[in-house]
Amino acid sequence: MCGIVGYTGKAAALSPVLEGLRRLEYRGYDSAGIALAVDAGGPLWVEKRAGKLGNLEEILGDQVPASHAGIGHTRWATHGGPTDTNAHPHLDNEGKLALIHNGIIENYVELRAELEKRGHIFKSETDTESVVHLLSDARKAHHGDLAAAMREVCGQLRGSFTLLAIHSDEPGRIVGARRNSPLVVGVGDGENFLASDVAGFIEFTKHAIELGQDEIVDITSNSIVVTDINGTVLEPRKYEISWDASAAERGGYDHFMLKEIYEQPKTIADTLIGRVAGLDPEITAGIDLTGVTKVVIIACGTAFHAGLVGKYAIEKWSGLTVEVELASEYRYREPSVDANTLVIPISQSGETMDTLMAMRYARSHGARVFSVCNTNGSTIPRESDAVLYTHAGPEIAVASTKAFTAQLIAMYLLGLHFGRIRGVLSDAEQEAIALELAELPAKVEQVLETVEPLRALTRQFKDATSMLFLGRHVGFPTALEGALKLKELAYMHAEGFAGGELKHGPIALIDQGTPVVAIMPSAHSVLAEKMASNIQEVKARGAIIIAISDAPLASADHLIRIPAVHDFLQPVLAVVPLQVIAYEMAIARGNDVDQPRNLAKSVTVE
Ligand code: F6R
Repeated sequence: MCGIVGYTGKAAALSPVLEGLRRLEYRGYDSAGIALAVDAGGPLWVEKRAGKLGNLEEILGDQVPASHAGIGHTRWATHGGPTDTNAHPHLDNEGKLALIHNGIIENYVELRAELEKRGHIFKSETDTESVVHLLSDARKAHHGDLAAAMREVCGQLRGSFTLLAIHSDEPGRIVGARRNSPLVVGVGDGENFLASDVAGFIEFTKHAIELGQDEIVDITSNSIVVTDINGTVLEPRKYEISWDASAAERGGYDHFMLKEIYEQPKTIADTLIGRVAGLDPEITAGIDLTGVTKVVIIACGTAFHAGLVGKYAIEKWSGLTVEVELASEYRYREPSVDANTLVIPISQSGETMDTLMAMRYARSHGARVFSVCNTNGSTIPRESDAVLYTHAGPEIAVASTKAFTAQLIAMYLLGLHFGRIRGVLSDAEQEAIALELAELPAKVEQVLETVEPLRALTRQFKDATSMLFLGRHVGFPTALEGALKLKELAYMHAEGFAGGELKHGPIALIDQGTPVVAIMPSAHSVLAEKMASNIQEVKARGAIIIAISDAPLASADHLIRIPAVHDFLQPVLAVVPLQVIAYEMAIARGNDVDQPRNLAKSVTVE
């Protein structure tokens, strides 16, 4: 939610700043803006435009002054609409200090009133602008020390923020700060970077420094100083980025989403590798199941659906009681949590504010936290007792695909691990599950080889006003995920239902020609017959049935065959055609696949 980049070093700054913004645009695309410190001195050079980064690039021309330090922002609007004026960077009244921000300043109304009294003139409707005026005054009070000013200002702010600031009097210096919002440092040779995530500088360096809560970073081309909010200098926590720069490229595909759908055999294999026979003791060391009476999975959106599937597998395989909670609701109902609760946050980004806050609530009540995350060095794993990383690589498309299947794998690995250490699963059962898990990459490959006709079929329904998804058992959360994908990409009404629930109300939605996607339980399951009856019920009322099944199905108008697999693992295969339906429907309806309207990746506000 908002992408932030900063560059200072030997190169002309515009290029790495723009490149960083291109790679971070998935975090928000309501507007984009850049501020450069001009080598020749004088005022900062600032350009910003509403809309996608392309709008900004169009007006840049070749009049950009020589500069070796700059900051850039791509916005997901919260306070103030997506206009040129509300776009970041925001400037102080002298035009010497520029600031960009990701997050929400909760006390901005009071701050603004106070600053206006002191004579500051505001131009935008944003919460951010208060901070630049505050910082401008604080810098003067600290005799031009921008880092000291930033520390003072952070002490006055409530809410969540990543802030980057640059001042024309010190052209090579960028100062950043973070609280509940992400910021990482990229360490280069004669150049340094700041970004919301490593994708912002991955092509320039693989060396990174993670920043903790309320830390301030002060960079020039050849120095990086990290302090806490009191000014105590901290030892930088360095790490190497394992992601390949090419992983953040489209690689010949029309869209990142399509590429990410097709990457799934590999990302599933990468998440499984070396873990099926047992999780690394380094992973499990931080987590002790002794005395655990309850497991609570907390997550949002797609990750929540992975958690729902996880509940089926973990309960059955380990005998533990598992609750799955929407992170955004969790802490507000003040649930009972204690030291015998194991909390499992699931998050691709590791920065989702709702999940982070739910996890902090649980932790403050004594819970043990074992997170599942895709992003190394992000806040959620940093604040967990232990973490199981999914190895999906950078997910750039806003709609989650490969991260979801990797999260499913993580759920199965945890179920298997808990079942093993609690002695619930026999050796033979463990072996059978392990074998089936190991076969998943090849089976997903098989599904991908057969989905092409589904694209033409999807187009037949492009003018439908609604599409329903039915499933039972683990097919139910899969149906929810199929509906979520369609909503966010096709902007059409879509809902997922448990097959048995239809007759309790939702069946009234079925009309002549309503497309219904039915995720069939495997043919050998007791639920296959029940689901077949549910299909008959909707078919009798005019629905057109698109069935995803591992066996022939006479009642299906269209059948998408998937390989047979262990009941609990079926979502990994069944979700792939659902992702393809959503992708194709977005194209058929002329929508932006990778950057759907109103959305942003990594939701760092509540
Ligand atoms: C949907 C989607 C979102 C995310 C949700 C949680 O396609 O991507 O629903 O799954 O915002 O994000 P993470 O996993 O980063 O916590």
